[in-house]
Amino acid sequence: MQAFLFDLDGVIVDTAHFHYQAWRRLANEKLGFDISEEFNESLKGVSRTESLDRILAEGGVTLDDATKETYATLKNQWYVELVNQMTPDDILPGIQKFLKETRDAGIKIGLGSVSKNARPILEHIGIVDAFDVIIDGTKISKGKPDPEVFLKGAEELGVSPDECVVFEDAVAGIESGKRAGMKTVGIGHPDVLKEADIVLANLNNLAPADLKKTLFSE
Ligand code: BG6
Ligand code: MG
Repeated sequence: MQAFLFDLDGVIVDTAHFHYQAWRRLANEKLGFDISEEFNESLKGVSRTESLDRILAEGGVTLDDATKETYATLKNQWYVELVNQMTPDDILPGIQKFLKETRDAGIKIGLGSVSKNARPILEHIGIVDAFDVIIDGTKISKGKPDPEVFLKGAEELGVSPDECVVFEDAVAGIESGKRAGMKTVGIGHPDVLKEADIVLANLNNLAPADLKKTLFSE
């Protein structure tokens, strides 16, 4: 167990909810329909352009490329407005302690997010220095469930994928981690994150050493 690779939205901070709010506003105000929280599960971990395509398909709406670009930009503006209201208090429970214990245990730490806002968010909440490597939407060409984001993380950290553990709240993210040949910890509900090696509600009360026993002792 050499490295931990963390997703951002929904694992480090609760921005998954902000993505949903901003997409829902776009669907309501510009597209003329609503999107459910259940449908939103299928958007988690998926890139901005792919998310818009899935929303349009869900509502049966067709748009030209220029309008799609305009709407994706508008959604991002609304999203960034929400993100800018965050403070370090919005870091999810247990994360800071877990990151510190991970570093103290000599385990490398990477971020694996398809978001182009990942680095500014980490800077905004003051934990950018906790990461040895940041792979974000500006460094990859394929979103999750493609394994690119996590494979790049392992490569930049100089560790073998089978020595990595991925922390993810998205179905697409768990698939991405598994396709990269890594162990996966789902953060959320076991009914949703069925493919994860283990599922936890959050990282409260978890120590890095516990994971080694659970995930690597076969
Ligand atoms: C992922 C989110 O982390 O980033 C997705 O789970 C989001 O919901 C994707 O669409 C892209 O984010 P951004 O910030 O580049 O639009
Ligand atoms: Mg996520």
